[in-house]
Amino acid sequence: MDPRVTFRLFVTIGLAVALIGALWALADGSAGAGPGGLAKADPDPKAAAVTMPAAATSLPSVQLHATIASNPCAQAAVQQALSSGGEDAVVAAFGGGAAFRAAVAAGNAPCVNLSDPNRDWVVVNKARPLSPLTFAPTSFGDPALTVDGAGSLRSDVSQALDRLSAAADAAGVGTIALASGYRSYDTQVQTYSGQVAQYGQAQGDALSARPGHSEHQTGLAADVVSCAGGCGDIDSFGGTAAGAWVAANGWQYGFIVRYVAGQTPITGYDPEPWHLRYVGVPLATAYHDGGYTTLEQFFGLAAAPAYAG
Ligand code: DAL
Ligand code: ZN
Repeated sequence: MDPRVTFRLFVTIGLAVALIGALWALADGSAGAGPGGLAKADPDPKAAAVTMPAAATSLPSVQLHATIASNPCAQAAVQQALSSGGEDAVVAAFGGGAAFRAAVAAGNAPCVNLSDPNRDWVVVNKARPLSPLTFAPTSFGDPALTVDGAGSLRSDVSQALDRLSAAADAAGVGTIALASGYRSYDTQVQTYSGQVAQYGQAQGDALSARPGHSEHQTGLAADVVSCAGGCGDIDSFGGTAAGAWVAANGWQYGFIVRYVAGQTPITGYDPEPWHLRYVGVPLATAYHDGGYTTLEQFFGLAAAPAYAG
């Protein structure tokens, strides 16, 4: 072969080998290049032996439960309970009182209407009037123990109050009687105007709800008195053994003390240890277990210290 041809052949092969080598080195070196593109020193052989993390070699599992929990109102059990079950069944379908509360407070339960006066979870306050303003419940029952003029309660609430009274008596603090239960819109006109006449507008508003804004109009609220050794009055109830027992144990029968000391800026009312509000056992249990002291905070609602107008 012509020596010049042989020389060119060697040069071409040499250049090709050098080019392949350079490309190989570049490809290999890219994994070790730092943020500025500079190649790092040779990796530690021990580090090179580290295996890839598991997350990089397997797919994450599908979180079916997370998807369902994010939209409880779409669940068939919730829909069914809302249309045909009582409130306890609805709360159970949500996964219990704490789960129900969390979903409502997060704005994640559009099927739960906190303004529905027929539901145990209705919230009535100075910013949330009853709708309709003259609402009245459809069932009524008289508790076993009442004082004159007490009126009645929604029938299931009346039965719950009987259980509460029997349990208080069994616990040694005496029976508990209803002093004021359901009050119609017209009755509340009298109650409220009487308080304002006696104490003035500002103090009247701290003691009594305006018509259409009282829990008593729902049939879910019970002003109670202690009947240990003869029935007392509502003003003395908080200082009785029964008052202390109800504050600690009322939740087991579905009742919360609605207006407690220290929460007037949220509720808009002076403390009323005698004013029990029925919310049902599952929600009262979540209220107690969560350490809540107002229904507004329980459901993540705005404070209602005063009327809008
Ligand atoms: N005393 C309570 C606030 C009412 O009138 O409903
Ligand atoms: Zn009351």
